Amino acid sequence: MKNVKIGLIGFGTIGAGVVRILTKNADVIQQRLGAILKIGKIADLDITTDRGVHVERGVLTTNADDVLDDPDIEIVIELIGGYEPARSFLLKALQNGKHVVTANKALLAKHGDEIFSAADDKGLGIGFEAAVGGAIPIIRSIREAFSANRFSAIEGIVNGTANYILSKMSDENCDFQTALQEAQEKGYAEADPTFDIEGIDSAHKIAILTRLAYGAPISLDEITVQGITNITPEDIECAREFGYRIKLLAISKFDGSSIDVRVHPAMIPVDHPMANVNGVLNAIRVCDDMMGENILVGHGAGALPTGAAVIGDVIEIVRNSLIGTGTRVPAQSFQKANVKPIPLKNRDEIEAEYFLRFRVKDMPGVLAKISGILGNHSISIESMIQRGRDDNGKGVPLVMMVHRSNEKNVQDALAEIDRLDVVCEKSNLIRVEN
Ligand code: HSE
Repeated sequence: MKNVKIGLIGFGTIGAGVVRILTKNADVIQQRLGAILKIGKIADLDITTDRGVHVERGVLTTNADDVLDDPDIEIVIELIGGYEPARSFLLKALQNGKHVVTANKALLAKHGDEIFSAADDKGLGIGFEAAVGGAIPIIRSIREAFSANRFSAIEGIVNGTANYILSKMSDENCDFQTALQEAQEKGYAEADPTFDIEGIDSAHKIAILTRLAYGAPISLDEITVQGITNITPEDIECAREFGYRIKLLAISKFDGSSIDVRVHPAMIPVDHPMANVNGVLNAIRVCDDMMGENILVGHGAGALPTGAAVIGDVIEIVRNSLIGTGTRVPAQSFQKANVKPIPLKNRDEIEAEYFLRFRVKDMPGVLAKISGILGNHSISIESMIQRGRDDNGKGVPLVMMVHRSNEKNVQDALAEIDRLDVVCEKSNLIRVEN
């Protein structure tokens, strides 16, 4: 039986997960694949920390070139994350004729054109199932199972850390910092958790899904991104009263002529399937002209779910190689020549329902001033809550749901409202996704 040697660059949480799975499930992998997967080399700057997995003598190295230049290694798995040196390592692996597998969404979101072209030019496989949605097979679904379908929307909860934080804040009245710290301790968060909580990690992932779904590369600065750091326990409580839960959503819509791609917290009705996707779970809703909608739910982060997605890609590459083909499915889902930018939807045309939160002085006439400004911008109030008395001079929360409105009108109205002397702090809006 053929032995296939794999090189691993990056021996952190997911790297250790990959080694654990290759050991624990060696028999079933071999039975399915008809080949034996062997770790040839593992490169990491830190090779002294105990990763809790057994590694044979001589496998560990601090020099990535020991992996990249090893002629026996057929597949390089990159798990260090970030732009550099990950980009150079992947390009060198491809240059050296090795297939690559990566979980690096930041790199593919920013340098996708270059990396996919390099793999394509060499006829080599590039697997990145673990880059989006951890264990959810969304890349494979778009690239293969849904190949005949024309997509109109891909959206969902694609950051486990943010979902963990919002779920904990909702269910346990836990504060933001405690929830974040727990997510970090469990190994869900990125090295820099700013990426998780500011929506940047979700933006990376939706950029990749947009490229695959519509054959449309999109640059990160074309994505509207808002994270969850402004979400307060008050927002969560009010959302509950209005019948919603707050989730960080990554949204990519295509109306046939333009795309609208954004990441922001959104209120979704409590009875929507995604409202009940909690903790570190991810959910991705796919809309197309054949199925209507499908929602895929699964573990979006963690050593074993993500490690299993990595090995699934390795197995696919080895299967292709065993039948003598480098690649069977185009890496970007579309043939390279058909991957082309699609114009962005004009921001001024975007419409939604909104939840608005103000902190205002508790005195007569305030509501009239605010509703007057909203009315002047053609924004109609659906319902409203004002609670408590202003006992400490910090104002009282005033929250409202408004009917479907133009987003530019809402932003303009908020800017005007924030200039009123009865408004105590910057107002906040949360979009409602029904
Ligand atoms: N930090 C990411 C998350 C890990 O929380 O979802 C998986 O990409």
